[in-house]
Amino acid sequence: MSSTQPIGIFDSGVGGTSIWKEIHELLPFEKTIYLADSKNAPYGKKPVREIIELSIKNTEKLLEMGAKTIVVACNTATTNAIKVLRNTYNVPFIGIEPAIKPAALHSKTKAIGILATQGTLSSELFHQASELYSKDIHIIEVEGHGLVELIESGKKDSNQTKNLLLKLLQPMLLQSIDYLVLGCSHYPYLVPVLKQILPEEVQVIDSGEAVARQTKVVLTRNNLLAPEKGFKPIPEFFSNTNPEVLASLINAKENNFQVSHLDF
Ligand code: DGL
Repeated sequence: MSSTQPIGIFDSGVGGTSIWKEIHELLPFEKTIYLADSKNAPYGKKPVREIIELSIKNTEKLLEMGAKTIVVACNTATTNAIKVLRNTYNVPFIGIEPAIKPAALHSKTKAIGILATQGTLSSELFHQASELYSKDIHIIEVEGHGLVELIESGKKDSNQTKNLLLKLLQPMLLQSIDYLVLGCSHYPYLVPVLKQILPEEVQVIDSGEAVARQTKVVLTRNNLLAPEKGFKPIPEFFSNTNPEVLASLINAKENNFQVSHLDF
C-alpha cells in the first residue's frame, strides 16, 4: 500500500459529500474518490443484512479503484456494517457516528435532540453510545423520514423540506433542547433551513470535522499520509444515478471537479 493511493469515501448517496468537504479541506494533498450509491438510497429503512451487502459492494469498488483507506461517510452504514467491513478487509476504515458526546456534555437544558435514520437509531452501536449519556440527559430521538429523499432529489431548500422539518422537530422543541445532533451525513445540507426554523439558542452539530481529524490520525498511524508537496490532486466523484445533484452540492463547475456516472 502506498501513501499516494487515494482515500475512498462512500455514502448511500450525495450526503457524504458533506464529510468529503471536511476531509478535502483538512487534507488537500490527499487524492479522494467519492462513490454515491444514490440508486440504493435511502439505506435508512433497509434491513441490516442489506445495508451490510451494499457496504461490501461499495468497499470492493473503492478497493478496485486503488483506495488505501475507506471512509464510510454514512451513519447508517457505519452503525450497521463497519464491524463486518473491518473484519473482512485489510485496509483501515473510518466511520461516522452521531456526535452525542459533545452535545450531552455541553447541554444546559439537559435535553438534546438526535435526528437520524431508522437504521442508525435502531443499531446496537447507537444504543451503546446513547446509553452512556441517557442517565443525566434527556435524549429525544427522531427518525428523519423523507429527508434523505428530498436532498437526493435536489429539494433541500424547498418549502416541502421546511414543512417536514417543522413537523419532525416539534417533539424536540417541546422539550426545550439546546443541541440538535445531525446523525446522518445528508443533514448538514439542511442547516440553512434549520437556521430559519430553530430558536437561536439551539446549537446544531454534526460529525464532519471529527471524521476528517480521525482520517488524518488513522493515515498517520498507518504511514499512509500523502506527502505534502507538488500538486494538489483533483478529487473524483462517481454516482450510479444522474450525477447532477451531486455536482451542484460540490459546485463542480466552479471548482472544475469531475462528476461521472458509474454502474456499481
Ligand atoms: N447519509 C446516510 C447516513 O448518514 C443516509 C442514510 C440513508 O440513506 O437513509 O445515514
